[in-house]
Amino acid sequence: MLVLGIDTSCDDTSASVVENGIKTLSNIISSQIEIHKKYGGIVPELASRRHIEMIWPVVDEALTNAGIKLEDLSGIAVCHGPGLIGSLLVGCSFAKAICYCRGIPLVAVNHLEGHIFSSFLEDPGPSFPFLALIVSGGHTCLYMIAGFGKYRELGRTRDDAAGEAYDKVSKLLGLGYPGGPVIDKLAQKGNPKAIDFPRAYLPESLDFSFSGIKTAVLNFLKSKKESRVKGQQSTKQSLVSSHSSLVEPCDQCPVTGDKSYFSLSDIAASFQAAIVDVLVRKTEWAIKKEHIKRVVLSGGVAANSELRKMMKEMAEERGVEIFIPAISLCTDNAAMIAAAGYQHLVSGNIAGLDLNPRAYMPL
Ligand code: KG4
Ligand code: ZN
Repeated sequence: MLVLGIDTSCDDTSASVVENGIKTLSNIISSQIEIHKKYGGIVPELASRRHIEMIWPVVDEALTNAGIKLEDLSGIAVCHGPGLIGSLLVGCSFAKAICYCRGIPLVAVNHLEGHIFSSFLEDPGPSFPFLALIVSGGHTCLYMIAGFGKYRELGRTRDDAAGEAYDKVSKLLGLGYPGGPVIDKLAQKGNPKAIDFPRAYLPESLDFSFSGIKTAVLNFLKSKKESRVKGQQSTKQSLVSSHSSLVEPCDQCPVTGDKSYFSLSDIAASFQAAIVDVLVRKTEWAIKKEHIKRVVLSGGVAANSELRKMMKEMAEERGVEIFIPAISLCTDNAAMIAAAGYQHLVSGNIAGLDLNPRAYMPL
């Protein structure tokens, strides 16, 4: 069975052809980062307009790369939420129009369900039941997945998502958007123990909270700036630049030679350590609580090198199988929508042409 997946939930226009829910024949992603980065985040109106321009070329390329035509498709799977409503509308309207004209079955896929099913595109994929940690720019949640359509939420973020924390801290540090990849890279050169940023473990709960760490980083930067201003009176020299990037990359203070001077990479590594610690420990608690032997990690933040490493180590220690898709399948893509869409299709869960996207949608 060949399924065309379409995802336009956020800022990537993506289309993919997947065979039998497990084999990726093509996976095309048109990124909008260049459009949004000068604004420090996604501008919804610009995102929708770009989706309109790119949807047909991207779908066309996905079909061509897979070596198939529209008439070869068993179904079209489209992400109908959660996401930016204007962006979702483009993918949904496009999918409905093609399905109507060509008489192709339409299936509707929840974006989070797509992230979970991205793990089936790897060989070996997981078998049910498993625990899924989805960490992205919009979500941080833990689910027990007993089978297709049998999902139980164990915990979710009470405020910011992990990826959102990366993006906000990156903005504070003047590192631009998106924050995850740049902080990940910088952190590799830094000391994760340099600054003891708080970890919100929320005892007795599998919920998360990541808004505090952003404030902690901000307070840390402000305290550094204040001490710089005081120091300036004696040294008459600026240790840190005063524009949006408050701390310059440097291993020791360029003026006093002070080794306790914090570099940008130390801040990145310490921030990342706090986020990764919480994600790994909470997953470990959930493993113990649910007596589960398989874990899936997915979503954009699952591309993070430290999180991937620490999760693998924890899983090995606990004798648990871990499934982490390739980075290109962790960040937003349409192959995951096609993989989940295949499950809907074989279950006979066909959507009507009155399908409407929704910005907020529980799994
Ligand atoms: O899943 P995704 O592509 O889109 C959403 O559904 O939100 O996730 C995007 C998020 C962004 O916040 C981005 O900063 C983060 O994933 N991200 C990373 C890395 N690559 C992307 N976070 C940490 N480390 C990375 N290497
Ligand atoms: Zn996503």
